[in-house]
Amino acid sequence: MEQELLKLKQNAEEALAQVAGADQLEAFRVKFLGRKGGLLTGILRQLGQVAPEDRPRLGQLANDIKLGLENSFEERKTQLNTAAGAVAGGTDYSLPGRYLPFGKLHPVTQVMEEICSIFEGLGFAVAEGPDVETDYYNFEALNIPKHHPARDMHDTFYVTDSILLRTHTSPMQARIMERQDPPLRYVVPGKVYRCDSDMTHTPMFHQVEGLLVDRQVSFADLKGVLTSFTHKIFERELPLRFRPSYFPFTEPSAEVDVACVICGGSGCRVCKRTGWLEILGSGLIDPEVLKMVGYDPDTYSGFAFGLGVERIAMLKYGIDDIRLYYENDLRFLSQF
Ligand code: PHE
Repeated sequence: MEQELLKLKQNAEEALAQVAGADQLEAFRVKFLGRKGGLLTGILRQLGQVAPEDRPRLGQLANDIKLGLENSFEERKTQLNTAAGAVAGGTDYSLPGRYLPFGKLHPVTQVMEEICSIFEGLGFAVAEGPDVETDYYNFEALNIPKHHPARDMHDTFYVTDSILLRTHTSPMQARIMERQDPPLRYVVPGKVYRCDSDMTHTPMFHQVEGLLVDRQVSFADLKGVLTSFTHKIFERELPLRFRPSYFPFTEPSAEVDVACVICGGSGCRVCKRTGWLEILGSGLIDPEVLKMVGYDPDTYSGFAFGLGVERIAMLKYGIDDIRLYYENDLRFLSQF
């Protein structure tokens, strides 16, 4: 057995010296040091059969050989690793560079920033408000008292009776107007929350609110601003349609449709054969809202609008399922 051990030691040392590369090194480890079926393990198994008086000496020898081989193995491993990284004593500058993927802004963030920058170009400032709002700013200050039926449309997430997750960015209208006097022009990007989820709704989505107050602001101003915005964001002069609508905080109110970006107005699946796509709600600020923040509605007037960012991004990029934005599949996200 002693002979066998010494022979194994010699063979292993020779084999290790020949090893070039990680694959061969691993093959060496399996062959000589492997726990199952390794040569050394094989010999150690027979230790039980040797004469009891020889056992301590042989056991000691086997153990020394094992430790010695394990050390040499580790040494060789380090040698090989350093050799691979260094050619002729230095760095191998001929190796191809490594591609480091870098992060990008989420498509919704990109579109939101683009929307804001278009309005900044039209003289609007950017403001942000809290996601957790009071019932007062989300509803009361917008002329939506406690039992108003418009509250049903909002599917509100309540935190307490009087605190909630804002259902739209409109609460910032009152917050801004309370703080300063006209003239003012703001856009407010942000997250909003509604208890709703399907192909076209997610419980959290993004809006950009617009607000302009001055003397003699008319519906024509609203039309002008929204028309030039739409042409810029869709990079085409798509026709707009102002459809009479109702919001408690604007009077008159209009929902704005843009000619279908897919079919150009002739009717398709995306626009449900109507030729039009709704992109925002808007109107002239209701005199009641102006009064509540202490403005005189006989002196000042203004307009407001709220647009859905995901919706605009879907139309801009031809995406038909809003949930794609929030599944975090990099194959989807990295296209933007
Ligand atoms: N806040 C409204 C909504 O979320 C949109 C809107 C904003 C309408 C401003 C009119 C004026 O549906």
